[in-house]
Amino acid sequence: MVIYQVDFEPIGRRHACARGTTLLEAARQAGVGIVSICGGRGTCGHCRVRILDGLASPPTGAEDKVLSAEELAAGYRLACQVEVLSDLRVHVPPASLTTPQRIQVEGRELAVPLQPAVRSYKVELPPRAAQDLRPEITRLRDALARVYGLERLAIDGRLLPRIPLRLQEWAGVANAVVRGESLSLLPDHSPALSATDCGPRRAEENSYRIELIDLLPDGRFPLGLAVDLGTTKIAAHLVDLTTGETLEARGVMNPQIAYGEDVIARIAHAMEGEEQAQELRQAAVGAVNDLAGELCALVGRAPEEIAEAVVVGNTAMHHLFLGLPVSQLGLAPYLAAVIDPLDLKARDVGLEIAPGGYVHLLPNIAGFVGADHVAMLLSTGIYRAEETVVGLDIGTNTEVVLRVGERLLACSTASGPAFEGAHIRDGMRAAPGAIERLRITDTNVEYQTIDDAPPVGLCGSGILDAVAQLLEVGVLDERGTMQEHPRVRRGKGGPEFVLVAQGEGGDGREVVITRADVGEIQLAKGAMRAGINVLLDEAGLSAEDLDQIVIAGAFGTYVDVGSAVTVGMVPPLPLSRFVQVGNAAAMGAKLALISTEQRALAEEIARQVEYIELTNDSRFVGQFTEAMFLR
Ligand code: FES
Repeated sequence: MVIYQVDFEPIGRRHACARGTTLLEAARQAGVGIVSICGGRGTCGHCRVRILDGLASPPTGAEDKVLSAEELAAGYRLACQVEVLSDLRVHVPPASLTTPQRIQVEGRELAVPLQPAVRSYKVELPPRAAQDLRPEITRLRDALARVYGLERLAIDGRLLPRIPLRLQEWAGVANAVVRGESLSLLPDHSPALSATDCGPRRAEENSYRIELIDLLPDGRFPLGLAVDLGTTKIAAHLVDLTTGETLEARGVMNPQIAYGEDVIARIAHAMEGEEQAQELRQAAVGAVNDLAGELCALVGRAPEEIAEAVVVGNTAMHHLFLGLPVSQLGLAPYLAAVIDPLDLKARDVGLEIAPGGYVHLLPNIAGFVGADHVAMLLSTGIYRAEETVVGLDIGTNTEVVLRVGERLLACSTASGPAFEGAHIRDGMRAAPGAIERLRITDTNVEYQTIDDAPPVGLCGSGILDAVAQLLEVGVLDERGTMQEHPRVRRGKGGPEFVLVAQGEGGDGREVVITRADVGEIQLAKGAMRAGINVLLDEAGLSAEDLDQIVIAGAFGTYVDVGSAVTVGMVPPLPLSRFVQVGNAAAMGAKLALISTEQRALAEEIARQVEYIELTNDSRFVGQFTEAMFLR
């Protein structure tokens, strides 16, 4: 039997299989979850992969039907149809991966040189000589100046009283955690180098402010926290600042939801009074503290070892997190209170990290386009693209950017929480039992659920698939009206389509999609498409001029692009022009955490963006009304 190696990217899994095995089977054997709702018959088109290298069997008739000539030419194939005829390198797009695997690869890492604002320097104070009457703090400062050139070192006031005790306890051996924007000019920390080494090593220039913010025991190095503070979800990465590696990443629901689902409702709550504004601030800060504690516990560290945090969010989330006034965000011309990047003592914000730790907030662009968008532009590289690109960061608010020539045009649309499963009768978050992919043929409904658990509801990608499929089979018309069908019945709120009949579902209940659910999707997708169209109009372009559409955000990772095209959420371009990049805002926050150069770049990007306020734009209402149609 001839055996070949198949490399599945970006999962990074290599698998040996016999010649003639289908790629879908090889993926199953390798533990790579590929969506296959037709069971490998070559009809659903969900198992799309791209052959990067190697020899595979020629396209089958099923592939000719499902894939366009352009896709086939670009190497796209159906995993269930392709037979392995040599060693292969195969790229599995996020939309073809089942949810648990998508979460593993969520967010594309970008390699940048490590240049954090915080570094650690090992000191080893020699035993005190009899005639040495210098206080411990002075001995520490002298050692840091002599060995590393860290002169005129400021010391955080909260750390100051702890230094003598810690140095005594650790017999003079410690890692000094120092923060300074220009620390990269100084010699890198080296665990082998100690303050007992002879000879000064100084930076040529040392006129910038550097500050001692923490002292850690020998062998402990500072951590960083990158936070994407979303309206609905908060995602955080715990990062080792000496390697730039993510140690753990987690997400939680934003507890501010209790005060309103969208930013407008939260702004209204904050405007009720100081107490209400504080409630919102504390809810967000408390959630970030809890998340930091959870992430640290997972890797056996303490939140006090986090020396620096970077937080990105839309402008309203940013302001509520800092306790800044938000009333002006709720009224035209929707002015932000602050758009500049900020470096604040974390404790002043309420974050419980290292005694002198800082939180850095990336710049905002305008009242409704915030630092999360800047972070997304940073991590996707859209800001320097030479092609014409649209970027969508899909969330409760969807930010849209158009890169054309040297210009960056941006706007924000209120797309609502429907794709998070909210406002949808049987909507749910992406958890076991959620229908994530769906296909309707005549009266038959085929679906795939997360973890192959019995169906209990629909997550965002399932809802979009359902609307697209109902449109394809003619149950929905362009206006979203439901036509007669054996599965359509009259429910309490109007017509509804039964996807999973009573008794077939996980908890015995049925799963339906109602006319009202379809309306929610029309509003959400209409807002996004109208935003895209206004930007294209502003630049004098049409959709065909776009070389690429980058889709970011948690839902953006899960969405089936074919369904998004079918319902008209995005322009009808070949699927090969779409790229799904996961939580790009969190990735941008991480870049800013590990590199001060990236922070400077973020500032430049924010200045470069030309913001278009859609509520003032005469084109928006017409475009929105038009984009509500399903097509
Ligand atoms: Fe390949 Fe459905 S599993 S097309």
